[in-house]
Amino acid sequence: MRKKVTVVGAGQVGGSCARRLAERDYADIVLIDIVEGLPQGKALDILQAAPIVNYDSDIIGTNDYADTAGSDLVVITSGSPRKPGMSRDDLLAVNQKVITAVTGEIVKHSPDCIIIVVTNPVDAMTQLAWKVSGFPTNRVVGQGGVLDSARYRTFLAQELGVSMRDITGYVLGGHGDQMVPLPRYTSVSGKPITDFIAPDRLEEIIQRTRDGGAEIVNLLKLGSAYEAPGAALVEMIDAILLDQKRVLPCAAYLEGEYGISGVYVGVLIQLGAGGVEQIVDLDLTAAESALLNQSADAVRELVDVMGI
Ligand code: APR
Repeated sequence: MRKKVTVVGAGQVGGSCARRLAERDYADIVLIDIVEGLPQGKALDILQAAPIVNYDSDIIGTNDYADTAGSDLVVITSGSPRKPGMSRDDLLAVNQKVITAVTGEIVKHSPDCIIIVVTNPVDAMTQLAWKVSGFPTNRVVGQGGVLDSARYRTFLAQELGVSMRDITGYVLGGHGDQMVPLPRYTSVSGKPITDFIAPDRLEEIIQRTRDGGAEIVNLLKLGSAYEAPGAALVEMIDAILLDQKRVLPCAAYLEGEYGISGVYVGVLIQLGAGGVEQIVDLDLTAAESALLNQSADAVRELVDVMGI
């Protein structure tokens, strides 16, 4: 039997995620939104591409959580996207309400699922979803690092004129502004990135990565990024539903790792059928560790503001 995936929020990110996942051809998908007609229309559109692209994934759109029952995995993209000039944190109050309501419905209808949260500010929203769900921490994970790392690798590959596939590297910490770059763990097919790029230039690329979301918001004006976020989600969904045991940077709940406790922060984790199967405790320098702690403090602040 195919896996069942619910994507909550049939907006830009939810639509991109659903389409990419349908094309992977191993899961049936339920797209749900509060807006009537939107998930139904998007689902039908994606379904009608199936004979051309060649997949048999079933996809339905709905406004009724009963249709999501028994999902193996639920992705939460619902909420308000960041508008120009708006920080991720401005979204907190708006999205707190949405995530609380949505998570309650998910738990009621899919008590055994794994939840991936995308809604910003993602680390805090992931912590909120975990709290509301009552799930163990391994079954609630946030997406941020996979996207930021993809942006980082894209810019590095462009800079060096090498294939995207040959850049290995990732960033930890909070999504976007709070990210913790790790040039020490970045390489071109194993050769350290610092052998190829001068420190100043590397810093510029890191800064562009940090501002990666804002750069797109400023260009699009009417919304935020969705193609790369959708792709990042599907990489995580594959890791879980195909039990790939991928090692990816995601927002996970820390209980003493890196000297941080009681908060969701972007770290390297092993992602498989059990969700967050392991937190990879990397060796960090004092400076890197300080940045990661700053990220954790920023999430704690939001968690306090939300009163959870
Ligand atoms: N239940 C279900 N869907 C909801 C709810 C809710 N309570 N509240 C809002 N939505 C839906 C909206 O109707 C909309 O269709 O969530 C969808 C969000 O889609 P977009 O506005 O297109 O936003 P998108 O660009 O997809 O971004 C999704 O990802 O980048 C983050 O923080 C960003 O929250 C945003 C999320």
